[in-house]
Amino acid sequence: MQISPSHVIHLLFIAAGIVALVLVASPRNMPPSLNGAIYGDETLPIDARVNDLLVHMTLEEKIGQMALVEKNSVHELDDVATYGLGAILSGAGGKPENNTPEGWRAMIGQFTNASRSSRIGIPILYGVDANHGNGNVPDATIFPHALGLGATRDPELVEHIARATAEESLATGAQWNFSPSLDLPTDIRWGRIYEAFSDDPELAGELGAAYIRGLQEFTPAVAAAAKHYIGAGSMAWQTSSNKDFFIDQGITPPDEKTLRDAYLPPFQRAIEANALSIMTGLNAWGDTKVSASRYLLTDVLKNELHFNGFVVSDWYGIYEIAPGTYDSTVTAINAGVDMVMLPYDYVQFISDVKKAVGRGAISESRIDDAARRILRAKFALGLFDADDAAVDLSVIGSELHRALAREAVGKSLVLLKNDDSILPLSIHSKKIRIAGSAADNIGMQSGAWTVEWQGVDGNWLPGATSILAGIRQATGPDAIVQYDKDGTFAEKDIADIGIAIVGEKPYAEGWGDAANPTLSADDMAAIKRLRASTRHLIVILISGRPLIITDDISNWDALVASWLPGSEGEGVADALFGNVPFGGKLPMYWPRSIKQLPFDWTDSSASARPLFPRGFGLTTESLKNPKSNR
Ligand code: GLC
Repeated sequence: MQISPSHVIHLLFIAAGIVALVLVASPRNMPPSLNGAIYGDETLPIDARVNDLLVHMTLEEKIGQMALVEKNSVHELDDVATYGLGAILSGAGGKPENNTPEGWRAMIGQFTNASRSSRIGIPILYGVDANHGNGNVPDATIFPHALGLGATRDPELVEHIARATAEESLATGAQWNFSPSLDLPTDIRWGRIYEAFSDDPELAGELGAAYIRGLQEFTPAVAAAAKHYIGAGSMAWQTSSNKDFFIDQGITPPDEKTLRDAYLPPFQRAIEANALSIMTGLNAWGDTKVSASRYLLTDVLKNELHFNGFVVSDWYGIYEIAPGTYDSTVTAINAGVDMVMLPYDYVQFISDVKKAVGRGAISESRIDDAARRILRAKFALGLFDADDAAVDLSVIGSELHRALAREAVGKSLVLLKNDDSILPLSIHSKKIRIAGSAADNIGMQSGAWTVEWQGVDGNWLPGATSILAGIRQATGPDAIVQYDKDGTFAEKDIADIGIAIVGEKPYAEGWGDAANPTLSADDMAAIKRLRASTRHLIVILISGRPLIITDDISNWDALVASWLPGSEGEGVADALFGNVPFGGKLPMYWPRSIKQLPFDWTDSSASARPLFPRGFGLTTESLKNPKSNR
């Protein structure tokens, strides 16, 4: 029985968990002003500790816990203690000056230590978007973005990836990951398709729950933030509240049946997996911003689904509710937001909440409820008990994690066309010509949320391997591998194999909104040149979503959807040359035309027929002995 990297990882996780449990440090000394308090006793049940701590807190300290501040907006380090801030985040790209694992640990450690110097010494949560590994850190393992994981349909693999991501986050001191996305994308014109697992509520829920387990069910743990509650994958085209976008931050049609049949089930799975937080979306539910909806946040999520974690709002979202900060804040907190993400001004927020409580516009019991939910998460993570730096920096970009990522890449590929069973290729193929913008471009294969919010085009990620490099490594000594991005080759002979590796430049959020997601003219020209100079043409798509390729696919002999595979480009070659079988299945419908958007997969009419249905994917056997020369 072959032991795969994910099995090895699983065994190591169990061992690490046992070791960490044994090494958990003694209770942290409490500030002298709180002698007599019992919340520091880690043998007590969490709720008893929370209740005791709340009794010893002032109103201002409770309100401070409700503030999640972007690290670049903290005016001075002392403010963390002065205002008793509950959490700090690195917005995507919010890196330290010294952008290394050591620099991250030092930066986060500064904020954590500052939080402990307050009167009551409640440690902060530090949150990051580690949505495909801890991609903020250049040396980190970059796993396939979620849509590729959706194609694996492998909850155990997803759980292991979440655990590896948690380890690479904890090594820097970050104990909160703003993942998984449970959005259900219905319109490929949206720029956040790839952050989601699938448009299928059941698959999204299954993999989302697995991801949450991987983050939270080990010691030390990382808090999940299941997002974006709710319906944030189904906004209508050209309804964005952001003037630069088209669909992101738009309006989700407020259909109650779809809410209960589709959008809620993945979040119910997240709640069953004990997600410690849920993040609201920047979208609106009909004419109400989600962060302003008491029905969605309190009546449904907290009272009906019994969510007992905390609700955190997204970015500047609450301030889009009403004209003034005060009215927006009152509406959002009373609707059920417990922690407010504040990319800019925490002093104003805290002042607004204090004023509202003083006026009776926000009740003290609402503040207590919000603080309770936040503190419960912090106790559950052991923030009051365990020592920092419980995870060594060497896990970042470790061989084991990269092997896991490579396995995930191989499993995420979806073989959509394979005429004459051209794939898998022989490693003894005489001459292979490679072209396309994504062949030698680690930035494209990683996608956004990689060191920079929007990602970075080009080869710059330490420790990563491009798809081209992976192919060169995989082929035998007698194979000739030629590469030209444009597909222009000096020889005029016809090569046996052509591989066009093409796709989308990195983009995040609304900057990826596109009226007609398809291949660039340069990539189409490269494909055409390769078609003319090779016998068998294989097209490999590197994209954050299904692309409109209906009119072109007939000219291609084979087609592989590779999504955004991340740093381990060799994983693509593993399947191309039969070291692993093709087995991925489409995680969402592949539209034939933008006229079919938003895609209604319940519509069985001929005009609604997709180019490829969800679940489609051809398979191949892994090669024991590579085929004879082609
Ligand atoms: C962004 C995204 C959200 C992310 C957050 C923090 O606006 O909508 O998914 O977690 O801000 O970066």
